[in-house]
This record gives sequence, structure tokens and C-alpha cells, in this order.
Amino acid sequence: MNILLTGGTGYIGSHTAVVLSQLGHKVVLFDNLSNSEETVLERLAQITKQQFPFFNGDVRDTDLLKNTLADNSIDAVIHFAGLKAVGESVAKPVDYYANNVQGTVSLLQAMQAQHIKTLVFSSSATVYGQPQYLPLDESHPTCATNPYGRSKLHIEEILNDVAISDPQWRITCLRYFNPVGAHESGLIGENPSGIPNNLMPYIAQVATRQRTELSIFGNDYPTPDGTGVRDYIHVMDLAEGHAAALNFLTQNLGWHAINIGTGKGYSVLEIARAFESVSGIKLPTIIAPRRAGDVAECYANPVKAKELLKWAARRSLNDMCASTWRFQQSAEKRENSWTHE
Ligand code: NAD
Ligand code: UFG
Repeated sequence: MNILLTGGTGYIGSHTAVVLSQLGHKVVLFDNLSNSEETVLERLAQITKQQFPFFNGDVRDTDLLKNTLADNSIDAVIHFAGLKAVGESVAKPVDYYANNVQGTVSLLQAMQAQHIKTLVFSSSATVYGQPQYLPLDESHPTCATNPYGRSKLHIEEILNDVAISDPQWRITCLRYFNPVGAHESGLIGENPSGIPNNLMPYIAQVATRQRTELSIFGNDYPTPDGTGVRDYIHVMDLAEGHAAALNFLTQNLGWHAINIGTGKGYSVLEIARAFESVSGIKLPTIIAPRRAGDVAECYANPVKAKELLKWAARRSLNDMCASTWRFQQSAEKRENSWTHE
């Protein structure tokens, strides 16, 4: 298949590009580089021994998208492009609706114009809001607690309307839990600019002494050790989930929402200890107040993915920490070599 990845130079898009190209697909990347760097392309070439066609553009540029779809004979799209920081979405809701919702509408217009009707969308477990029961299955009620989550929910609903309007569409919304880790080469991974919001990149920066200590946001939750529990999933498992979703869509029409998680929750303390064990570095930690909007526990029921996609996560917490650590060390080396050039 010829597959367009919007947001293709980003964290999850780049790992998915590796998996899809290794399965023999032709992968085309489209990104406005608002949260990624063009140098990812060189590192993708190092890993896969091939050059990916890359288009520097915004998904809201419908004409550019139309031309990219047509010129590359695209059969299916995976739509990763979007903004993803919950706190920032509260401060800048218009940017979030413009990038995420308007960007998706623009993509749908371009796909419709080119009669391309196969789409995998990057959704999030955030669409479940405050869990009413655990593990979270896909029939759990949906609810948004911030503009980022609301943009994902709106997009899911828009995609459902599209699938109802035309039964030729094949759409899967993958509801990711907590993606972490990196490709085993250490060449690509998650490298947030500024202070990381998420636990794993923050821990990685404490380990390299870019941050002095890890603040644990609350140790009085009703969880086994009092710290928040999440379903961390290795980004390479997640990437393979996209290949499985595309395969599923070749056989199935309509709109589908599917959890992509492991089904197992780990606490903040368990993650910190696992990282210490693989890196051999003691992480200075302090207990800080709970972070606004956080839930105590969130983890997936992954059965639907297993049944429909024939996919299940297989990498361990150790793999997640070890690959994060390898990537963080090589990213630091790359940055040091640039500053010394
Ligand atoms: P990322 O920021 O690394 O990748 C997103 C990419 O999209 C970036 O390269 C960015 O430059 C690009 N982009 C943003 N707006 C664009 C636009 N208007 N036009 C073109 N390109 C644009 O993020 P990621 O972690 O790889 O996330 C990918 C998708 O998965 C996002 O939609 C995100 O909301 C979703 N998601 C991520 C997580 C997570 O924890 N990483 C969890 C759930 C869902
Ligand atoms: N945490 C800390 N210290 C930190 C960072 C995080 O203790 O410095 C804790 C949080 O309180 C939480 C856990 O680590 O208990 C995980 O936090 P993350 O920020 O890594 O992840 P979240 O589960 O809060 O958020 C993620 C994505 C969101 C998405 C949400 C639900 O970042 O985009 O999952 O799917 F909305």
C-alpha cells in the first residue's frame, strides 16, 4: 500500500514509518515541523536504508494535501498531525481546535476529492474522561475534561458522521494509552522541547542531569503505593498496532474505535524504580502536590484490539525504560557534538 502519514516526522509517526516500510509499504511523510525536526529523516534513512518522500506542509492546506495524495497514488492515510499538550490546550483552545479539528476536516476534504477512503486516526484514552470503571473498554462513556480531549472527541464524532454518510469509508480511531520508549537503535524517540510534561521524558532528563529531580505528583491516591497508575505502552508496539489497524481496514468497512494499551497499569514509583534499574542511575525524587486534572488510575481493556486487529502489546516495562535511556543518551551525544562543531 501507499500510505501517507500526517505528522509523520513526530514521535509516534516516525516509529510507525519504520514499521510500515519494513512491512514493504511505500510511506510518505507530511508534517509542518511545528513539533519535530527534519533531521529525523536522516535517522529514519539510517534505520530503514531508504529515503522517505517528505512534504513540509500544514494539514490545513487542503490543496497541498490533495496534490500530495494524488502525486503519490496514496491508498490510505494515518493522521497523527496535531497538538497534544493538555495544559497548553486550556490556555490556547483556539489553536487546538484549529490544528486538530480544522486540520482533520481539511484532510477529509482532500481525501474525499481524491476518493481515498481509508483512514487511521490518532485518538487518545483521554476521551474516556474520569474513569467510571476499570479497565477501560471501548463502551465506557466518553467525556472531555479539557480542549485537547474535546478536540479528539469532536474528531471521532466527525469521522463517525463521515462513515455514516458514505459506507465506502474505512476508519479506525486508535485510542492510545501512554506511549513511551523508543526504537531500539536509539536514533529516534521522544525529544520534547522545553520542560517535559510527561513522566518518562522527564525521568530521562533527570537521569542525564538536565533536570535536578523528579516531582512525583501526589502519593496519596487510592492505588497500591499511593502514586498515579497508567497503562504505558512501548511506542514500537503502538507502531505495530497501526500496521494491524490498516490490515484490519482492508477487510472491514465503517467506523471503529479501538483501545491501544497493554491492559496493565504501573505506578509512578514503579516506573522510576524500573528506570533506575536499567540505567544504574539513582533518580532524586520529591513528593509534590497532585497535578490538577490527573486521575488516580487509567488502564485499558485491550481485548477488542486482540480480537479485531489480531494485535497485542508484547514489549516489557524493561524494554520501555531501556530504549528510552538509549535514545536519551544518544540524543545528548548528538546535541553535544552540534554544540562543539
Ligand atoms: P508529536 O508532536 O511528536 O507529533 C505530531 C506531529 O504533527 C509533529 O511532528 C508536528 O510537527 C506535526 N503537526 C502538528 N500540527 C500540524 C499541522 N497542523 N500540520 C502538519 N503537521 C502538524 O506527537 P506524537 O506523540 O507523535 O502524537 C501523534 C498523535 O498521537 C497526536 O495526534 C496526539 O494527539 C496523539 N496522541 C499522542 C499521545 C502521546 O502521549 N504521545 C497519546 C494519545 C494520543
Ligand atoms: N507524573 C509525575 N511527575 C511528572 C510527570 C508525571 O508524577 O513530572 C505522573 C502523573 O501525575 C501521572 C503519571 O505520572 O500519574 C503519568 O503522567 P503523564 O503526564 O506522563 O501522562 P498522563 O496519563 O497524564 O497523560 C497522557 C497524555 C495525555 C493524554 C492522557 C490520557 O500525555 O495527552 O495520557 O490518555 F490525554
